[in-house]
Amino acid sequence: MTIQRIGILTSGGDAPGMNAAIRAIVVAAHHYKIEVFGFIAGFNGLIEDNFMPLTLKSVDNIIHKGGTILKSARCPAMQEPLGLEQAASTLLKNKLDALIVIGGDGSFTGLLALNEHWPGKVIGIPGTIDNDIDGTDFTIGFSTAINTAIEAIDKIRDTAEAFERIFIVELMGRHSGHITFNVGIACAAEQVISFENFPSKGNAVDNEAHKLKALVKEIKQAQAERHASYIIVIAENLWQGGASTLAQQLQTVANIDCTACILGHIQRGGSPVAKDRILATKMGVAAVQALIDDQSSIMIAECNNTITHVPLFVAIQHQQGVSDSLIQAQESILALTAQRQC
Ligand code: F6P
Repeated sequence: MTIQRIGILTSGGDAPGMNAAIRAIVVAAHHYKIEVFGFIAGFNGLIEDNFMPLTLKSVDNIIHKGGTILKSARCPAMQEPLGLEQAASTLLKNKLDALIVIGGDGSFTGLLALNEHWPGKVIGIPGTIDNDIDGTDFTIGFSTAINTAIEAIDKIRDTAEAFERIFIVELMGRHSGHITFNVGIACAAEQVISFENFPSKGNAVDNEAHKLKALVKEIKQAQAERHASYIIVIAENLWQGGASTLAQQLQTVANIDCTACILGHIQRGGSPVAKDRILATKMGVAAVQALIDDQSSIMIAECNNTITHVPLFVAIQHQQGVSDSLIQAQESILALTAQRQC
């Protein structure tokens, strides 16, 4: 089938590098004489038939920009038959042959559901700071997000060091610890608390009480012997009430002063680092080439520095875990070293 017109959209949490991917798709499409429609604000643009034609001129000078020129959104309507039918009717009306979605697993689930109502080709490009998509070594935006967080925590370390102060820094990642583990290791955090090293089974209150007790012991030891900065990185959505509650609990239980700092959306913004620009460009070009090669229902991935294709349904089956070697290095060597320094 000859591909003449494709749609693209960015969906879910925006990620630095999404613009680089949009640009690469448009440049590759131009090369193959394919027309590109950019739908606005994720799947909402499809439901509302709201798009802009994307030409080489529209993607000029965007490779370095954070956010997404197409805007992004989460779209609960895509979980309803009516929303899916409206989205499908826009694709049919505009005679689109294919749709490329840049986003995370929720966006890919929506894309597959849409494909049941519309017979065109569908391709996913993994774009999320969380790096939690199975089948690709990295997602677009992750590298920039961790660099941003590292830069922020290095600054926090300066003031923590000057005041001999304890900080609890809460990091994004939804329900995965890629950001927390990588940033924790890169900032030599004294504590990394994430889903991967915290019990998921049993009673959450008991698990937290147990961890709190251990933390008190280790922090007291650090205070007694070292009198320096102490940084705890913690994954969002892990501790009930988050970093602020943990700080209050340490104060109440053991009179330990901690400052909670929620890095939040700063991690999603900013100019993409080289790694994200290059990954996004490779994936954008590969998505268009995959369409030319008559592929559909796949996610463009990169494994061991090689672009590959993963069936979309496989990519959304499991969350990609943090590598065991990273967790083990933290748990068995780095965390213990931090304690021994005390
Ligand atoms: O998926 C990206 C992400 O930034 C997660 O890390 C975070 O949990 C979530 O989005 C925040 O979403 P929102 O911006 O809708 O609050």
